[in-house]
Amino acid sequence: MVNRRSVIGAAVLGGGVIAIGGMATRQFIGGQGAASVRATSGRSLLIPPLYSGERENGIRVFDLKLQRGVSQFLEGVQTPTIGINQSYLGPTLEMYAGETVRMNVSSDLSETATVHWHGFHLPARADGGPHQPIAPGSTWSPSFVVKQRASMFWYHSHAHRRSGPQVYQGLAGAIYVRDDESERLDLPNDYGVDDIPLIVQDRAFNRDGSFAYSTSMRDVMMGMMGDTLLVNGIVDPVFEARSDLLRIRLLNGSNARFYRFGFDDGRPFMQIGSDGGLFEQPYRTNNVVLAPGERAQIVVDLSDGRPTILRADSLETMGMMGMMGGGMGNRGMRDSGDRMGGSGGRREGMMDERRRFTVLNIRPAAQRRQAIVMPSRLIALAPVEPETAIKTRRFMLQMGMGMNMMRGGGFTINGKSMDMQRIDETVKVNTTEIWQIENASMMAHPFHIHDVQFRVLDRDGRQPGPQDRGLKDTVVVAPREVVRVLLRFEEYTDSELPYMYHCHILEHEDAGMMGQFLVKA
Ligand code: C2O
Ligand code: CU
Ligand code: CU
Repeated sequence: MVNRRSVIGAAVLGGGVIAIGGMATRQFIGGQGAASVRATSGRSLLIPPLYSGERENGIRVFDLKLQRGVSQFLEGVQTPTIGINQSYLGPTLEMYAGETVRMNVSSDLSETATVHWHGFHLPARADGGPHQPIAPGSTWSPSFVVKQRASMFWYHSHAHRRSGPQVYQGLAGAIYVRDDESERLDLPNDYGVDDIPLIVQDRAFNRDGSFAYSTSMRDVMMGMMGDTLLVNGIVDPVFEARSDLLRIRLLNGSNARFYRFGFDDGRPFMQIGSDGGLFEQPYRTNNVVLAPGERAQIVVDLSDGRPTILRADSLETMGMMGMMGGGMGNRGMRDSGDRMGGSGGRREGMMDERRRFTVLNIRPAAQRRQAIVMPSRLIALAPVEPETAIKTRRFMLQMGMGMNMMRGGGFTINGKSMDMQRIDETVKVNTTEIWQIENASMMAHPFHIHDVQFRVLDRDGRQPGPQDRGLKDTVVVAPREVVRVLLRFEEYTDSELPYMYHCHILEHEDAGMMGQFLVKA
């Protein structure tokens, strides 16, 4: 396959200079032609530089520097931001299954940060959670073997009680894990050309251009949301597609907002994967719902030559709205599944549409590469065998209101708020378990578990929808819903250092909706 990476810099980044496969030094947001939030910008989509590290004695080494910067998202104003090797967000890290990587993460920030490898199976000491703080001026250098299947993962701040504000300012980036099995498939696979990552984040701005991050009770309860959508750090970006089939890797990197993605002309697309890998078979649909932390890979056919717009409808938990209106009813929330005529289905019933964003304006170029034929089989996944589970653990998500919340006891799992000194669960290595997650609150929560990729077994006892198939590390639990997932804990025992499980609405995580588990011998 032709390697077109060398043209990315000029063609996609509009003349910006990036180092392919090396340390990226370019500022993520260039000075040229800033977008106005109100006018359609017509600004080209920025593709985060692809960074493959350097090979040192058979190890792939990445040098990542957390730094402060200034970015221009809106016309006429500058926004103080945090980035990794650049001013906002970070490069896309490219690595291969089976190899050993070392991450040299140094920090020029003025507060303690961490960098967590979301979705990775690795030793707890390399996880990058709150137990691996990176103090200002110091360097953290974890090393681990890439055990993942090919997919898009991500890295982001997981600082104790500070994940929300740090991610909001930009401390996040994408990771492409590649493996032989998926590289052999005839899928669009040229980074930045016919395979593009889209990091979707909503942001609120102050008049002076700074991010308006708030920890008011409302913003903690609902999670911090904004009225402007940034896609790879650009407002209303345009992408010129030079292939008939375009593979888009969507990451909901927002702190709290849920989206339903789809094209404005309703055109169908194939969803080929979710969080932790490809599906066994592509799934034809016209929409995909992602909660914070979740990913999806889609392939869309542009061979009709017509421009199209990828949009995101914001979804609001209906229970939350009901509660705001004084009623505690959960009308409709559990009646998911069939409303959309079987497409996507799983979460439609529990949320209301609220706001519509433009994610990407796609303009097919006159000269395009011809469509390849989508494979009908992608990969083989091991069958799910719930019988092998040795136990079921229950997790009850709760949001205490009123005084309870003010006292800090608001956001809990099994009645407990996160405590760094407390181990909540201890799991035996090389065993399979069922985790049953129950949502006793009036709001949907994306439940994320470190160290593992799991399979969704059922929702309220019913078969999960098509988009719940495949390997997941984050699963939405609707109000009053009970979701069961099957997970296997392999190797990497540690008698002291835990992994986390938590709600991926970052304000909920920071407020305590998180627990810790050990994997022991
Ligand atoms: Cu993406 Cu514990 O986080
Ligand atoms: Cu994670
Ligand atoms: Cu939550």
